[in-house]
Amino acid sequence: MKYTYYGQSCFLLEAEGKKFLFDPFIKPNPLASHIDTTAIQADYILVSHGHGDHIADLVELAKQTNAKVIGMVEVMDWVAKQGITNVHPMNFGKQKFDFGNLRMVWATHSSSMPDGSYGGNPAGFVLETAGKTIYFAGDTSLNADMKILADLYKIDYAILPIGGNFTMDVDDALVATKYINCDQVIGVHYNTFSLIEIDTEEALSKFTRENKKLFLPAIGETIEL
Ligand code: NI
Ligand code: MN
Repeated sequence: MKYTYYGQSCFLLEAEGKKFLFDPFIKPNPLASHIDTTAIQADYILVSHGHGDHIADLVELAKQTNAKVIGMVEVMDWVAKQGITNVHPMNFGKQKFDFGNLRMVWATHSSSMPDGSYGGNPAGFVLETAGKTIYFAGDTSLNADMKILADLYKIDYAILPIGGNFTMDVDDALVATKYINCDQVIGVHYNTFSLIEIDTEEALSKFTRENKKLFLPAIGETIEL
């Protein structure tokens, strides 16, 4: 499985010929100005919630890729109103797809659409595909619901927000690794704005000190999971 980081909480997972794009926010991010969005391909676009830093490029990339857009029902209603017909609405629950299983899970955050319309509840995802289990927490604070995931899954990699202020910070993410019983974390949602700036060296050493692994690929970098 390949993971390509596009900044903030946007990334592409590629496994067994299928491409999953998460939370498309690239063009408004000055840190991602070297990313050519016209080259992005996707079979599925997964959306955690309606905030602009997760969906700014959603409509354009949905049209460009013809990907199936998957997310919370209220977010999908908004997406459909933008003229996107290939949508799969979910709520907190599990569904079988041709790529494997996908569960939407609780995120402690908020959600509204760019036009102010209701975005339903924010969410995270557990994706089971190509023999791996990936947890993307979305935007969330540390929350006790994460403990359920350790009962339900053997998570291989957790993609967690670490920038603080709006979400978990690095210390919270370390606690989350215990809740979800996964020591391999890819950090997202940091350094895009001043309110979520972190000391990345300190973050890496905090994880190392607890014998856990924190991956912080550069924007545009691809790593093998
Ligand atoms: Ni948000
Ligand atoms: Mn956000």
